[in-house]
Amino acid sequence: MGRPADAAPWWRDAVIYQVYPKSFADSDGDGVGDLPGIVQRLDHLVRLGVDALWLSPFYPSPQADGGYDVADYCDVDPALGTLADLDALLARAHARGLRVIVDLVPNHTSDAHPWFRDALAAPVGSARRGVYLIRPGTGPDGGEPPNNWQSVFGGPAWTRVDALTGRGEDAGQWYLHTFDARQPDLDWDSPLVRTRFEDVLRFWLDRGVDGFRVDVAHGLVKAEGLPDWDGGATAMVMGGSAHAPGSEVVDLGPMFDQDGVHEIYRSWNRLLASYPGDRAMVGEACVEPAERAARYVRPDEMQQAFNFPFLQCRWDAEALRRVITVSLEADGAVGAPTTWVLSNHDVVRHASLLGWIDTGRSPNGIGADDPQPDAALGLRRARAAALLMLALPGSAYLYQGEELGLPEHTTLPDALRQDPMWFRSGGRERGRDGCRVPLPWEAGRPGFGFGPTGRTWLPQPDDWAALAVDVQDEDASSTLALYRDAIRCRRERALGRGTLAWAQVDGTDPRHVLAFRNGDVLVVVNLGEGPVAVPEGATVLLRSDADGAAAGVVGPDCAAWLAVA
Ligand code: GLC
Repeated sequence: MGRPADAAPWWRDAVIYQVYPKSFADSDGDGVGDLPGIVQRLDHLVRLGVDALWLSPFYPSPQADGGYDVADYCDVDPALGTLADLDALLARAHARGLRVIVDLVPNHTSDAHPWFRDALAAPVGSARRGVYLIRPGTGPDGGEPPNNWQSVFGGPAWTRVDALTGRGEDAGQWYLHTFDARQPDLDWDSPLVRTRFEDVLRFWLDRGVDGFRVDVAHGLVKAEGLPDWDGGATAMVMGGSAHAPGSEVVDLGPMFDQDGVHEIYRSWNRLLASYPGDRAMVGEACVEPAERAARYVRPDEMQQAFNFPFLQCRWDAEALRRVITVSLEADGAVGAPTTWVLSNHDVVRHASLLGWIDTGRSPNGIGADDPQPDAALGLRRARAAALLMLALPGSAYLYQGEELGLPEHTTLPDALRQDPMWFRSGGRERGRDGCRVPLPWEAGRPGFGFGPTGRTWLPQPDDWAALAVDVQDEDASSTLALYRDAIRCRRERALGRGTLAWAQVDGTDPRHVLAFRNGDVLVVVNLGEGPVAVPEGATVLLRSDADGAAAGVVGPDCAAWLAVA
């Protein structure tokens, strides 16, 4: 898909839909979503009006971390399909005008990856072993880990090599895993790692993918000497942040945001640029402050980086205004668009998160015995948040199911949980399974039409029947209709390519009402408790109120797009 020489590249204002393949649609009835299932449901994405889809990992994997433990970067997991299915998906998506980006997981492999097997078989000190971060331990006989780092999922970040090989010469040797023990970290100082990944990029670019989502983009390079760190590893990963958005001083420790990582993205930028079309990378770079995050989207690095401070922001007008302003300024300073996102496969779905009165909380999952969110409040705010996000200049990512207003599964039985976070934290963290539940397509069918047999690899809550695609399809007041209308209107008015100017609606308090102009659209988000009157002369283009709010006002926790002169 080429573009006229004077047009901006597609990714600057694209709406991109994240598909979590295991949970999108199942074609063969085994209860696990697959690539042919995605092809069967492509119409849904076309009608939604998105520009592209991002596929979370579909590679061969023991599934120790939902596919983010990759055992072969250049193939498809048999449970999800074949390379031919992937080619068919690319062809069908492209024919419908949808671009496709795939997930690249360069920080670590699966312990089942042949590179790791090869490294373990290779002599201590050899180049092949040097593909991974394998280091001698400390203390008598190296019996203690090389440093005190903790895994993001809980527990130590090091595991003994001899526990896997049983070889005497490996006694006292340890391998690093920032995440699960079955996800050994690669050593990006190794030239072999760099050339192998260039080959992986070429493999997918040659097949026609439009780009890559780069997993843990801020983590590939570790500080020289791997020094101890007492700050914890969970502060800035997977959309999490221990800091108020826009806070000044953030030390991410020796595992994250090292300067050396940028050279990798510069080299990949050159590689992508050697292909026709506008191939793009989006980084999962959980980095603050915004100026540091913007370094990942400098003109010769990645094209996009998720705005996690926005995803994490409290439902509070002043906090949102601050995070939006700070991000636009920091990204604008390097000439990059901002990439907005409200949910993904790592966080509690925002329709549930926003249903807590205390919206500053960002737990790793919700369980049946936790305080339960207010579903109606959460949905009302989620619809308003969608209108806020889709009116902002830049690109936006949707996570599958948010267009249905899906909440988190907050009462999933613990016995069914699969997230390594749940196991490694000893059950302290519920983990991310609750946002990965198979989608409801057809209310009247078993498994809500997820697949032909009704099987689903995680159970769906009964009340999702009311949220199924076929139910919302014909309902003009549904969340699905709101997303379709918003994406169409955003495109017609080129909001993604516009400019934001903060505004104030007469008679309202900016502490409770967020308002801005983007082109000829005035966006009003009411985060207060009373109604906000639509300004004189403005025409309502779109509103998030589903429940017949009085014409002429924007209700509490609702948003509207208004046409103004
Ligand atoms: C990223 C992924 C997450 C995964 C982790 C380790 O944060 O989004 O799902 O667990 O990386 O690969």
